[in-house]
Amino acid sequence: SGPIWKKDGAGKGPDAAVMDFLAGEDVVLDRQLIGFDITASQAHVAGLETIGVLSADEARQLVDGLETIRGELASGERVLNAAFEDGHSALETWLTEDLGAVGGKVHTGRSRNDQVAVAMRLYLKDRLARLAGTCMETAGVLLKRAAAEADIPMPGYTHLQRAMPASVGMWLAGHAEAFIDNAALAIATRDWLDASPLGTASGFGVNLPLAREQVREQLGFSRLLVNPQYAQNSRGKVEGQALSALAAATTDLRRVAWDLSLFTTSEFDFVSLPDDFCTGSSIMPNKRNPDAVELLRAAHGVVTGARVELDSILSLPSGYQRDLQATKPPVLRAFAAGLQALDLLPGLLAAMEWNTGAMEAALSPDMFATDLSVELALEGKPFREAYREAAARIAGMDAGDAAKSLSERVSPGAPGALLLEQLQARLAHLETILK
Ligand code: ARG
Repeated sequence: SGPIWKKDGAGKGPDAAVMDFLAGEDVVLDRQLIGFDITASQAHVAGLETIGVLSADEARQLVDGLETIRGELASGERVLNAAFEDGHSALETWLTEDLGAVGGKVHTGRSRNDQVAVAMRLYLKDRLARLAGTCMETAGVLLKRAAAEADIPMPGYTHLQRAMPASVGMWLAGHAEAFIDNAALAIATRDWLDASPLGTASGFGVNLPLAREQVREQLGFSRLLVNPQYAQNSRGKVEGQALSALAAATTDLRRVAWDLSLFTTSEFDFVSLPDDFCTGSSIMPNKRNPDAVELLRAAHGVVTGARVELDSILSLPSGYQRDLQATKPPVLRAFAAGLQALDLLPGLLAAMEWNTGAMEAALSPDMFATDLSVELALEGKPFREAYREAAARIAGMDAGDAAKSLSERVSPGAPGALLLEQLQARLAHLETILK
C-alpha cells in the first residue's frame, strides 16, 4: 500500500529509490509521533462533525478506526514501515483500507503540514513535562541529602585549587537549585509552545469554518497558533527552544558528572559510586571505572550536536519546505538520549557515598585565611590590611589550630535550614504546576 493520492491524484509518483530517499529515517521516526498524530486526527474528525462536514456515524467510524490502528501499532500487528512516505500518509491509507471511502474523509480541511506540526507540538509538550519531572526528581533527592548531610565539611575549590571550607550540603543544594531552575525552564518552554497549529492546513488556512477552538481544547492546548504561515515558519524554531531547555539540564548533568568523576579518583577519593554505575576493565584486573558517569557527561554532546544540526537546516524561506522533515531526527535523538541520561541521575545521587575522612583531610589550614581576614576586618581594620595580616598568621598555623577554627566556624558553608526551605518551597510550587 502506497500513498493514495499518488495513484489517483497527481501523476505516477516517485520511483522506489526516490521513495526510499523521501521516507528514509522519517517513517521510522514517525513511530514516535504517530500516537500524537492519531490523537490529533481524532480531534480533527470531531471538529469536522461539529461543522457538519462529517455525519455522526462517519465521525464515530473514523475515531474508532483510528483507535483500532493505535492498538494494532502497540501490539505490533500493524507496522509503520518504508512502504509509506510518512506516518501521516500511512494513517489515511490504513483508514481507507479498513473503512472504505469514509476513511479518506479524515483528510478534509487539513494538510500533512499542520498534521506534523500538531503532532510535534504534542510530542514536545510531553517530553518537556518529562524533562521537568526528571529534573524535579533529581532536585528532590539532592535536597533530601542536603538536609541530612548539610554539615559534613568538604573543601571548596576555585580554579580547581583549594579555596575555602565548604560542605557536602552546599554541593548538594547547589546542584539542587540548578535542577529546580531547569525544571522551571522546561515548564516555561512547554507553556511557550502550548499552541495548536491544527486548522492552518498547508500554511494558508482552508475554506471551511473549522472548529479550531473546539479542537484546541480537546487536545489540551492553551491557545491557538493564529496565523497559518507562522504555523509553518515556527517549525524548527519551537524545537530549538525545547532543545535549549533540554541543554540547560544536560549542561548541569555534565557538571555533576564531571564533579563525580573527579571525586572518585584515588587522588580525591571523596566519593564512592554504587557498583551499578561502574564497570571493570577487559585487561586491567585492578580497574573499577565510572563509565556511567562519563556517558552522563557525554549526553550533553548529543544535545549540542542536535541543536547545531537543527539550526543548520533552518535556513529557509517562508512556508512549508520538505527540509523541515530533516529537523525531526536531531530533535527525537536528543530527547531520547538526554532523557535517558537524566533519568539515571536521581538513582546515582541517592546511592553514592561520601568519604568524610578524605574530605576533612583535604581541608588545609590556609583555607581559613578568608574567614580570618573577615574577622580581623570586623575589628575595624581596612580589609586589605586584614588580608595581609591573615596571610601572615595562616602561614604559622598548624593543623591543630586549623581543626579548632573549623569547629568554631559555624557549619562551614552549609546551607542554613531557611535556605533549604526556600528551595523546597520552590520545588513544591513547580510540582503543583506540573500536576
Ligand atoms: N514528513 C513530513 C514532514 O515531516 C510531513 C509533511 C509532508 N508535507 C508535504 N507537503 N510533503 O515535514
